[in-house]
Amino acid sequence: MTDIIEILVKSDKSITELDDDFLFSQNVLSVSQYAYNGELYFNLLFDQKDRSYIKKIIHKLFGSFQDFQMNKVENKNWVLESQKTLEPLSINCLYIHNDRHKKNKNKRINICVNGGLAFGTGHHGTTAGCLNALIKIQKTIDVKYFLDIGTGSGLLSIAANKIWKCRGIGIDHDKKSIEVARNNIIKNNCRNKVKVRLLDITKESHKLGYSSKFDLVMINILANIVVQAKYDIAKVITNNGTLIVSGFTKEQKKKIRVNYQNLGFIVLSEFTLNNWVTLVMRAPTF
Ligand SMILES: C[S@@+](CC[C@H](N)C(=O)[O-])C[C@H]1O[C@@H](n2cnc3c(N)ncnc32)[C@H](O)[C@@H]1O
Repeated sequence: MTDIIEILVKSDKSITELDDDFLFSQNVLSVSQYAYNGELYFNLLFDQKDRSYIKKIIHKLFGSFQDFQMNKVENKNWVLESQKTLEPLSINCLYIHNDRHKKNKNKRINICVNGGLAFGTGHHGTTAGCLNALIKIQKTIDVKYFLDIGTGSGLLSIAANKIWKCRGIGIDHDKKSIEVARNNIIKNNCRNKVKVRLLDITKESHKLGYSSKFDLVMINILANIVVQAKYDIAKVITNNGTLIVSGFTKEQKKKIRVNYQNLGFIVLSEFTLNNWVTLVMRAPTF
């Protein structure tokens, strides 16, 4: 079993200021923040103990003079431990919580997701942007069949299923995410209608089959993949279908818009949360 290394950093930065993209790319397993004796601390978990590698990451995140403490932690429950601090999230009629919190009876849709090693607890600006978009369009379209590209924890698939009672597929190229998504889908009683598949959108979209198209496609991945996937998406979305794209910053927005507008997509609305942008588009009649 790999050792899990816990890093403690004293910093009054806000957790939303940390560069999630960077954390994700450096395989930081989890990040949480807590207060102790009036001071704020970050707790970061790594699955490797090379001090100079960790030091570089800490310095990039918190500045080069930042001191930190390094401890070995027991491996068995670190995933659950890292989620204890995640508070439930309420977005309009949606209430998203993990196993440690109860349902909210006043909300129309309760979703219980345990992120585990997958991305997607709803707290990130991109996921929250997609959830906002789903809420906003819920009454303006009727979805029968959706595709969730880069499903992560499965949260967007579960939300879409619960909003429209529709069928759908969540795909991810990461085995661990598929496992987590499958468990969350079962936990939320969606397994009869929502399937997950291990599939890389940029290399294997043909495996989705083109006979039955999707009237809603959601993609929340980094900007370069969102651009790379445009032809694949154009092949699988219905005429005038709805596309929700996220995973990019305000600075990258123009590039995304231009790439999709060149294929005939029309931007209908836009959400920005912590500098992360989500666009809702309508597909053309191909
Ligand atoms: C930012 S997370 C989004 C997770 C979730 N959909 C959400 O909105 O919170 C991106 C996910 O896309 C997956 N991914 C990245 N590149 C991919 C690709 N080429 N094909 C399929 N999935 C991919 C990652 O493994 C990760 O789970």
